[in-house]
Amino acid sequence: QWGDEGKGKIVDYLTDFFDVIARYQGGHNAGHTVNIGEKKFILHLIPSGILHHGKACIIGNGVVIDPQALLDEIKALRQAGVKVEGNLFISSRCHLIFPHHRQLEKGSEENRGKHKIGTTCRGIGPSYQTKMARSGIRLIDMENPSLFREKLFQNISEANSLLESLYHLDPIDPEEICQKYLSLYPLIKGFVTDTSLYINKAIAQGKSVLFEGAQGTHLDIDHGTYPYVTSSNAVAGGACTGVGIGPTHIDGVMGVSKCYTTRVGRGPFPTELLGKEGKLLQERGCEYGSTTGRPRRCGWFDALVARYSIRVNNLDSVALTKLDVLDTLEEIKVCIAYKYKGGIIKEFPSEEWVLDEVTPQCRTLKGWQRSTRGITDYDELPQQAKDYLKYISDVLEKEVSIISTGAERDETILVDTPFINKWFKDKRGISRQGRNT
Ligand code: GDP
Ligand code: IMO
Ligand code: MG
Repeated sequence: QWGDEGKGKIVDYLTDFFDVIARYQGGHNAGHTVNIGEKKFILHLIPSGILHHGKACIIGNGVVIDPQALLDEIKALRQAGVKVEGNLFISSRCHLIFPHHRQLEKGSEENRGKHKIGTTCRGIGPSYQTKMARSGIRLIDMENPSLFREKLFQNISEANSLLESLYHLDPIDPEEICQKYLSLYPLIKGFVTDTSLYINKAIAQGKSVLFEGAQGTHLDIDHGTYPYVTSSNAVAGGACTGVGIGPTHIDGVMGVSKCYTTRVGRGPFPTELLGKEGKLLQERGCEYGSTTGRPRRCGWFDALVARYSIRVNNLDSVALTKLDVLDTLEEIKVCIAYKYKGGIIKEFPSEEWVLDEVTPQCRTLKGWQRSTRGITDYDELPQQAKDYLKYISDVLEKEVSIISTGAERDETILVDTPFINKWFKDKRGISRQGRNT
């Protein structure tokens, strides 16, 4: 949907079944939470697989990196006893985020006035802008300090003219930034490699790779609710360009979605609940951004949003999270169509002005009003919860193969579906010994 669906938790859960875990887009705008006992980890750049022993975790070329944010994350993991050395590999082709990107974003957001996007202010958009303009600076450029310096001075000189004349913001001192970045590089260098080569070799050796998306399909630069999107391809197809593998290497695609809908930042959200029902979902679901702490907007599950995601990702299967958040509700709604100017819309529209004016047409289902928190066996779910899950699966015409009933790693139901049986059956009941925490 619009992200924060529990990808971190599901990727952590599935990591047991894979050898390599790879992030392919986005940057530290993402916040992927994994709860393990008393410990809570929020990963921004590093794949959630890092919390398991001996898994190769890749940051692919499609990811944009702020070196300071990366080092802060590595430091926090080390302090929590997680081994990063030898498990993390970062693409030499990753583009960098600089302080002038954050300043440009600040100026641009303010300039947009009521059309402001509500970004995470991490410099993500401007970094991708520079990349696409072919002026970007990549991680590997820091190997060549004089070339790096030349490129950086050129970039900052252009940025400064915009910052000062258009946005009336202070200019950035290129020398200071140059020295800072070159002093951070030796701390990162040991992780930097040709990750496309690494992954393709791993695949050739018969190893399995889990590609972890950041953000959500409706925040994708091409397929999302443009312009209220992020600046990368969050859809499954982004995995190919974002790590450097061919499309035929992808054998299966799983979508992760909440049992209801949330969104952080501005932009259309047809099923948004502005009253006390929305507040209830927000409170029960602890819906506050993992990266910025902003309250997340909440609403009913929207089948048009989800079906669109199924189409553009060609999902094989869906993981539904946060079922327990709905536990207390008497009634739960699912949007199955939109009403617009007297007509009915059944496919998610591309016009932002239409999305702003549609009225959701909902089917009301009975709540179960019983705790599902921590249930790990499908048969133990209350009948109404099974009915709700079955209804979603029917309207999506997709199997639901994972159900999450709590934030904890093991508060998870692996459903007996063709997808699970095809990819994970032989490995069921595998040992949970090999974890990096
Ligand atoms: P991500 O960006 O997709 O990884 O998701 P976030 O980590 O930003 O947000 C999901 C939030 O929901 C986190 O706080 C998770 O700990 C929490 N969470 C994940 N699955 C469940 C669940 O099944 N039930 C509950 N109550 N919380 C969950
Ligand atoms: P995860 O991976 C939710 C949203 C921002 C804003 C828009 C553009 O944790 O699901 P950006 O800073 O990327 O230019 O902001 O995208 N956004 C997210 N919303 N979860 C995320 O990541 C997000 N990453 C970006 O709120 O609306
Ligand atoms: Mg998140």
